[in-house]
Amino acid sequence: KRPAGAPDKSLARPVTKVGVVGAGLMAGQLALLFARRLEVPVVLTDLDQERVDRGVGYVHGEIDKLLGKGRLRPDKANQLKALVTGSVDKGAFADADFVIEAVFEELQLKKTIFADLEKIIRPDAVLATNTSSLSVTEMAADLEHPERVVGFHFFNPVAVLPLLEIIRADRTDDATLGTAFAVGKTLKKSCVLVKDAPAFVVNRLLTRFLGEVSAAVDEGTPIPVADKALSALGLPMPPFVLLQLVGLPVALHVAETMNRAYPDRFAVSENLAKVVAAGKTSFYLWPDGKPVVDPEVEALV
Ligand code: 3HC
Repeated sequence: KRPAGAPDKSLARPVTKVGVVGAGLMAGQLALLFARRLEVPVVLTDLDQERVDRGVGYVHGEIDKLLGKGRLRPDKANQLKALVTGSVDKGAFADADFVIEAVFEELQLKKTIFADLEKIIRPDAVLATNTSSLSVTEMAADLEHPERVVGFHFFNPVAVLPLLEIIRADRTDDATLGTAFAVGKTLKKSCVLVKDAPAFVVNRLLTRFLGEVSAAVDEGTPIPVADKALSALGLPMPPFVLLQLVGLPVALHVAETMNRAYPDRFAVSENLAKVVAAGKTSFYLWPDGKPVVDPEVEALV
């Protein structure tokens, strides 16, 4: 017998069109994955046409890379490109069954976006969030239909990493959860149902781990030394390269969320805060493909 609260895919509703809010790197990766695996139209939206065009351009560029590697046949690549479109008008989401947001990691912004979307989309359309650490329950709290909100947390690079954390918020209903698991399976992800707790499961550990490495740098260990030393653990990539992949502002936001939730266990690294405040997106520069600490970063940490 299925335990109470567990997903029941037999309740899943069909998904024939997907909306993605945000056209940044994460959103672009999601749009590509949904179009490729669900084979349904995917509409990207963002604040202005320039961002939307950049998002669609990223997806089309990735499709060309897959074509170049022989992973897609030319006719399939063209079909896929036609599936992914962009619009600044959220009205394009009116007939979507599944909308996922992947915007800046700010609770109020996400709440406003969900409230706006609710005026446009069907009452039974799923509203998913790719938040890294924020409360999904809180995101749904003021909505007319909080039961259709679910956390859908992917890992970078989305096309490569198999895990998908699915978060059941306090009021998520069984049909929404069933739909989320059915979609996750079609996306060929390994889905785990996790509690709506700060940073869920994976980012709790990752934030603690990256926080400790950053603390070593705050205390005077040079970045390349920390990265080299941690190779002892057989990681797939060095921690300060991983931070770039995660996105430095995202890593900082998650650290801040965890620090608020568990101040005794999570600190916010000074060097990370300074580097983000300076608008840097990476600790390293890559001349000749080899990592060299950015001299501007070196001056800050
Ligand atoms: N985007 C898309 N595809 C990528 C990619 C990227 N950024 N980086 C690598 N890939 C693809 C490559 O194209 C290649 O595909 P192919 O086999 O079709 O050619 C495949 O991944 C393997 O890449 P490489 O052979 O170049 O390199 P590696 O074997 O070293 O793998 C890696 C690269 C998969 C990125 C590996 O280093 C890795 O797993 N790193 C750790 C990533 C990680 O921990 N991610 C979780 C971050 S936490 C998170 O995202 C949550 C958020 O909320 C903070």
